[in-house]
Amino acid sequence: MTSFDHTKYRAFEPVAIENRTWPDQEITSAPIWSSVDLRDGNQALVEPMTVEQKKQFFALLVDVGFKEIEVGFPAASQLDFDFVRWLIEENQVPDDVYIQVLTQARPELIERTYESLKGAKKAIVHVYNSTSKTQREQVFRLGKDGIKEIAVKGAQCVKEHAAKHPETEWVFQYSPESFTGTETDFAIEVVDAVIDVWQPTPDNKAIINLPATVEVATPNRFADQIEYFCRNVKQRDSMIISLHTHNDRGCGVAAAELGLMAGADRIEGTLLGNGERTGNMDVVTMAMNMYSQGIDPELALGDMDRIISVVQACTLLQVHPRHPYAGELVFTAFSGSHQDAIKKCLANQTDDKPWDVAYLPIDPRDVGRSYQEVIRVNSQSGKGGVAYTLEQEYGLALPRWLQVEFSPIVQQFAEQDGGVVNAESMKGLFESRFMTGDKPYQLGKYDHAKDDVDTVHAELNSDSGVINITGTGNGALSAFSEALGKHFGMRVDIIQYQEHALTVGSDSQAIAYVQANIDGDRFNGVAIDSDIVSASVQALMATVNQKILQNTDANVA
Ligand code: KIV
Ligand code: ZN
Repeated sequence: MTSFDHTKYRAFEPVAIENRTWPDQEITSAPIWSSVDLRDGNQALVEPMTVEQKKQFFALLVDVGFKEIEVGFPAASQLDFDFVRWLIEENQVPDDVYIQVLTQARPELIERTYESLKGAKKAIVHVYNSTSKTQREQVFRLGKDGIKEIAVKGAQCVKEHAAKHPETEWVFQYSPESFTGTETDFAIEVVDAVIDVWQPTPDNKAIINLPATVEVATPNRFADQIEYFCRNVKQRDSMIISLHTHNDRGCGVAAAELGLMAGADRIEGTLLGNGERTGNMDVVTMAMNMYSQGIDPELALGDMDRIISVVQACTLLQVHPRHPYAGELVFTAFSGSHQDAIKKCLANQTDDKPWDVAYLPIDPRDVGRSYQEVIRVNSQSGKGGVAYTLEQEYGLALPRWLQVEFSPIVQQFAEQDGGVVNAESMKGLFESRFMTGDKPYQLGKYDHAKDDVDTVHAELNSDSGVINITGTGNGALSAFSEALGKHFGMRVDIIQYQEHALTVGSDSQAIAYVQANIDGDRFNGVAIDSDIVSASVQALMATVNQKILQNTDANVA
């Protein structure tokens, strides 16, 4: 039991639809997109955009490829009016772009709206009135007929003004605002009446925009409303059915997607979802969802950082780090198993194969992100992330046995440090732990002779002078290990050895990784040198130095 009184609320009353077909439909092509960033998005801002910000945002929307852009509510805002005038007078609207403006269905506002649009080449006049039961009864205190009359008068007024300016290519748009809270049959009745006034044709369609002004039900209920509407409205073939969803229940994108399957043609929304309350439908997410299914969204979203930067600069709202496709962390895996899987899949991925990488629904490069951002290392990370970072940044291809040794060291550091371990600190940890071939002893001159057995003569430099050691074995490394063992009175067994050429940051350098058991304890040593044999003996020296230091510490303690 919760302390909430759930009886305070009623369940949404679904439309009675039989044999719905939308669940079997697929989205196979991009809808007509309309951006409402500069109107609905702008109306929801604590600080509405300045003209300068609107100009910057408009340029972005054009570059992204919107052909229909709602630029404001000019009858309600002088700033919006001025912005529309600037667009027209300064010839800022590309020939293939419709500017769209919103007006309430009130004659004086419609008149002012047309004033703002004088001289426009192409314009969508978007007229709306609220049709929901709640608004009819409590806000307008009108019956259904009164509400329908507002819509019809608004439609007539829109048509009359347009006729006075034949130089503009007009498109009419009507929204029964709060459509989701309106009995669907009544919404149809109002739209039919508006259509009777406008008399669109299949060649000259009107836009009928069905808003989920407030998202009040699960997306399937919205899809039912859309399919029912499309089936029962008159002259369906003379209208473009548009959807305008908000995100009150967090399903604005899902509702638009299902609505599209239910018969809609056009989608209104904002870039990254700014809008009233929880926001408008996020066009970036919906378009990228299509893209990730192999459908061309017909919007250029590849420069995600520019999109984010303009949206943030104009709305003064931050993009959440986990925002789908755009957030700073959405191509980052922290968990070790995810990192391992991503690393393996990325290694298999080639440009001629469809994208198939675990945990990454799209290729981060498509939105201007890089693989480096895919993997970060924190206390939750496993060896995959550590190995990936060292390889990407420094060309160190750690053998698996060394990954196993090193990743707990990084995790421990992350736990103490409380955050993400960047590549530089990781390299520092690696060097201080394994590249210990210079203290207390450092390899000086050495000579390697090959005969039946390999013989190594080496000088070891230390603070207390130079020591000469000699050993034999099967190969330089084993000869050197014997020499070290004899001199220091230790048993030195090499358990693992690996080497490779370094490709990052150094020409013709090689790296050697050695794991040795010294008197029953395992040590790992690493060294880089232009000569691979020299690198390998230095790596072994590193393990012996660790043992000597361990003994010294034990004696001191
Ligand atoms: O959310 C809404 O209903 C609107 C309309 C004006 C279309 O923004
Ligand atoms: Zn809206």
